Amino acid sequence: MITYRIQGHPVPVPEQAPPPQEGPEYEARLAEFEARIARGEKIEPTDWMPEEYRRQLIRMISQHAHSEIVGMLPEGKWIPHAPTLRRKLILIAKVQDEGGHGQLLYRAAETLGISREEMIEAFLAGKAKYSVVFNYPTPTWADVAAIGLLIDGAAVVNQLMLAQGSYGPYARAMKRICYEESFHIKQGYDAFVALATGTPAQRQMIQEAVNRWWYPALMLFGPPDRDSVHTPTLLRWRIKTKTNDQLRQEFVDQYAPMVLRLGLTIPDPNLRYDPETGHWRFSEPDWEEFWRVIKGDGPCNAERMAVRRRAHEEGRWVREALTAKAAQRTNGGGNGRYAVAGL
Ligand code: 3HC
Repeated sequence: MITYRIQGHPVPVPEQAPPPQEGPEYEARLAEFEARIARGEKIEPTDWMPEEYRRQLIRMISQHAHSEIVGMLPEGKWIPHAPTLRRKLILIAKVQDEGGHGQLLYRAAETLGISREEMIEAFLAGKAKYSVVFNYPTPTWADVAAIGLLIDGAAVVNQLMLAQGSYGPYARAMKRICYEESFHIKQGYDAFVALATGTPAQRQMIQEAVNRWWYPALMLFGPPDRDSVHTPTLLRWRIKTKTNDQLRQEFVDQYAPMVLRLGLTIPDPNLRYDPETGHWRFSEPDWEEFWRVIKGDGPCNAERMAVRRRAHEEGRWVREALTAKAAQRTNGGGNGRYAVAGL
């Protein structure tokens, strides 16, 4: 029995045998469910929901959580090499935040009846995805600045939309995460401007980082709508309220002028402002590269998965000790052979 909290009150989520997904009773319940969605109501874990709604949410939220945890790696490698103590402290805080976001999202996914162990085993077995953007290298400090501004900026465009979504625990997690992501963007912009207005070598470093991260930032929003197999369902039940292409356009409209105003260039010869539409025209990413990296053939896929598998293995003893301690407490204490000092 999974228990979760609404506003701090523990609410057990009954083990649900999947209800029938056809027939008159299902149709009536689906009609009421979709009326609730149309009224803008939040769906909570113990409410009736179509199994496809539950499945889509487990897929999206768990992959979002995996992305947050893997997303710690590209920047985390720069913590020992940050140029100043101030930058080091800021980066430590940011990377810790990403780990916390992952835990918050695993928790949100658990309210749908899947265990954290199942989600993490699927990820470690390569059966669950994480965002392609984290399979690119971070060869210089400027990549930390570019990630902070462009990748976290793209993430916030996406997550502000998700915070309007119909599933209560996910929408509430998004609101909490977006507060912290705004700090991530500010720290990225601060480091970005320091380099863009610095020495010629610093300007070149940040320009090379923009060239590396512009298209991965566009990829964060997913494939083009024409190839997005999940968007119609996600929009129907307001899990998402905008399409991948709409969000990508929002991101380019916000961030292209921000980068250009600093006197830097964007690696897109077709990029230009269209005064008739009020939007920026831009080139799409290389979708063959996008799908190739999703399938595991990116610059850092193997490295990222190896690090995550090693961390999971090295942390096994902690999980076992905590599980043993919890079992001891459940069985009324005693000097079970698993008594572990200090836990
Ligand atoms: N990276 C990896 N896989 C991707 C992807 C991406 N950027 N975009 C799409 N895919 C996968 C989908 O998961 C799906 O595969 P699946 O059926 O095995 O799950 C397939 O490609 C088809 O894509 P769709 O467009 O049909 O899928 P979605 O409608 O779900 O759109 C999405 C993809 C935009 C990632 C959407 O799932 C989403 O918004 N997810 C929640 C947010 C999220 O996961 N963000 C990841 C960034 S992490 C982050 O923001 C951390 C911050 O601190 C930087």
